[in-house]
Amino acid sequence: MKGIFITFEGPDGSGKTTQIRLLEQHCKEKGYDVVLTREPGGTPISEAIRSLLLDPSHKEMDGVTEALLYAASRAQHVAEKIKPALAKGCIVLCDRFMDSSIAYQGYARGLGDDVRVINEFAVQGTQPDITFFMDLSAAAGKARVAAARDMDRLEQEDLSFHNAVYEGYLQLKEIYSQRYVCIDASRSIEQIAEEIRDRFDNYVLCRNEQE
Ligand SMILES: Nc1ncnc2c1ncn2[C@@H]1O[C@H](COP(=O)(O)OP(=O)(O)OP(=O)(O)O)[C@@H](O)[C@H]1O
Ligand SMILES: [Mg+2]
Repeated sequence: MKGIFITFEGPDGSGKTTQIRLLEQHCKEKGYDVVLTREPGGTPISEAIRSLLLDPSHKEMDGVTEALLYAASRAQHVAEKIKPALAKGCIVLCDRFMDSSIAYQGYARGLGDDVRVINEFAVQGTQPDITFFMDLSAAAGKARVAAARDMDRLEQEDLSFHNAVYEGYLQLKEIYSQRYVCIDASRSIEQIAEEIRDRFDNYVLCRNEQE
């Protein structure tokens, strides 16, 4: 009995948190054991690292430091929470995972493939079964976030940075095409939620047939 590991990825403001909560609700209605978690964070140690990373006053943070802190936070999260939950057969829904590091630090910060390498080390083989990619332009995402709340250190980066993040995701979608499910995130919340539920139900059905 192995659980299902589902990650949500996409630019800032593309609707990841909105949709992951709706999928969690759907899973609960179906009676599944579901664990909703987020990155960076998810455990006390990982959340402490998150505060360091996102603090808007930490303007001097070096890009390599940033990448290593994300990977360190993720290592703890996988070991303490994600891996044990999957071993118990839970459905784990994670708001951002290692693809965020590759898109933000690897592509947009220009740190390159080293970011993938340190993250492979951090996750020790725990990879998502499905990644819902919320496909929305950086400008549209930024407009949604700016309207809704104060922005953290990464969100305050300029639009060219966020465009590079988006381009990074488009590459990841090709590289990891087996697990990527591309969702047109410019539609209404309910339209998107319905497609995600359908894709999820279909995945569970196929997996049960294979077992
Ligand atoms: N399909 C949608 N259409 C319009 N607005 C939306 C849609 N989905 C989410 N929003 C709104 O856009 C804002 C950002 O959504 P949300 O927080 O879910 O995005 P996110 O991808 O989690 O962002 P972040 O990367 O910053 O965590 C929120 O105010 C949310 O209510
Ligand atoms: Mg969010």
